[in-house]
Amino acid sequence: MTTDNSDPRADIVAQSPAMIELLRLVARLAQTRSSVLIEGESGAGKDLIAHLLHYDGSRKTGPFIKVHCPSIPEDLLESELFGHEPGAFTDARQTKLGKIEMADGGTLYFDQVQDLSPALQAKLLRVVEERRFERLGGTRTIEVDVRFVSSCNVDLRAAVASGHFREDLYHRLRVVPLAVAPLRERREDIQPLAELFFRRELERNATPARALAPETMTVLRDYHWPGNVRELRSVVERASLVTTVEQVPVSALPAHVVECPQNLWMGRERLPSLREVEEAYVRHVLDRVGHSQTRAAAVLGISRKALWEKRRRYGMPWKRKGRTPKEGGD
Ligand SMILES: Nc1ncnc2c1ncn2[C@@H]1O[C@H](COP(=O)(O)OP(=O)(O)OP(=O)(O)O)[C@@H](O)[C@H]1O
Ligand SMILES: [Mg+2]
Repeated sequence: MTTDNSDPRADIVAQSPAMIELLRLVARLAQTRSSVLIEGESGAGKDLIAHLLHYDGSRKTGPFIKVHCPSIPEDLLESELFGHEPGAFTDARQTKLGKIEMADGGTLYFDQVQDLSPALQAKLLRVVEERRFERLGGTRTIEVDVRFVSSCNVDLRAAVASGHFREDLYHRLRVVPLAVAPLRERREDIQPLAELFFRRELERNATPARALAPETMTVLRDYHWPGNVRELRSVVERASLVTTVEQVPVSALPAHVVECPQNLWMGRERLPSLREVEEAYVRHVLDRVGHSQTRAAAVLGISRKALWEKRRRYGMPWKRKGRTPKEGGD
């Protein structure tokens, strides 16, 4: 069972208009029992929002129960959720409460809900609709007062379209949709987040560095953060650990952050040549599109043959096959 009773309101960064608006909405929703689906990329802050919906509202004295859908095997998940009576299956000796029952009076949070199996989706539909269920092997119907919050980091509507997620459950869970924007779309949050994570490291480790250097901050602000807030946190933590000077320099950041095209000339005495910028940008685009030749060529606005030429000129390995281009494309 995962219960987390820490107060998430300490240290929440919301400087961007998108985040300010989201928190305003969350504060209103926290007073209701409507089912909320939180959508957003990995690391964007969905768990944080789920916590806020609970601890900021009328249910805060009740339990907050999280179900991390991908990590529990399907056969176990059913009894984890619904509980069981003695004799429901071979190992069931005593009555066991499921998470739905444990969440009575509070919040049940389905993290990465897209991973629920079709069988469980069908079973959950009734609970979410009626807030009633039976334990496995039980006959008595149990009523609960639960607020359902779910999160997903894929396009759940697409999962519905492809038949992987039940449409009826989708609508039930998504009475109110909340979108957590990717960090690159709310850049005003980057600096205060970086400062927050740095301050925490300072308190924890008494590192010699007292601040992030201004150029370091500029590099952080300009990066596109595919891993969102979680990635920013680990970059800042690592940078503070490897630094022995007063201010954390750009060189303490990982190469892929510093060398992304828009950061190429930051904090450097020598400005790069056009060729260097081109090389870095081609690498960057290839990384972003998962090394697909076709997509990279489309983004760059050149033919696949021209892309292949550039890769050969810059000695860029084929990521998947681990070879450098010599002849022919892929
Ligand atoms: N606005 C914010 N202010 C302070 N910390 C934040 C903020 N947003 C996210 N974080 C921190 O960033 C980390 C990642 O956030 P979180 O775990 O909520 O992401 P997630 O969207 O649930 O990711 P995943 O899809 O991988 O589960 C956490 O340590 C969280 O506390
Ligand atoms: Mg999460």
